[in-house]
Amino acid sequence: MTAENPDTPDAPRRNAITILLWSALATIAAPVVYVAGRFIRPPAGGPATAVAGTEAELGATPAHILKVGSADAIVMRDPKGALYALNLRCTHAGCNVHWNPANGGFACPCHGGRFDRNGQVVKGPPRMPLRRMTVTLDNGVVIVSDKPSAE
Ligand code: FES
Repeated sequence: MTAENPDTPDAPRRNAITILLWSALATIAAPVVYVAGRFIRPPAGGPATAVAGTEAELGATPAHILKVGSADAIVMRDPKGALYALNLRCTHAGCNVHWNPANGGFACPCHGGRFDRNGQVVKGPPRMPLRRMTVTLDNGVVIVSDKPSAE
């Protein structure tokens, strides 16, 4: 092996190619490092929340649809009058389900999945129920959070 002479006519071209290769490698590696970093240390921040209205306002309507973060949600009352909220994203492939007051359930337009008013699967293909969201009351104001409900 011979030592390279930096004064040879090919040296500038070789340096330029080396810089290009390292730049290409950095361009490819940067997104991988970014995604790995976000996976290892997710961004800080709490759950998204939205105000659904006052409890009195919701009392007049059987179902109230609102946006919580990027998700559509619905606030409903159970037979005992307690409020609960469901994420309207179908658990099969993520389409938004539609509330049908006539039959008291949810229908998914994508593959025909159906859920009862509690979000439980009535007809597949979904196998998981609609995700419950957390409902809190603050001086009569109903607040929905995308934090999963403990119920
Ligand atoms: S996305 Fe709802 S049934 Fe497939």
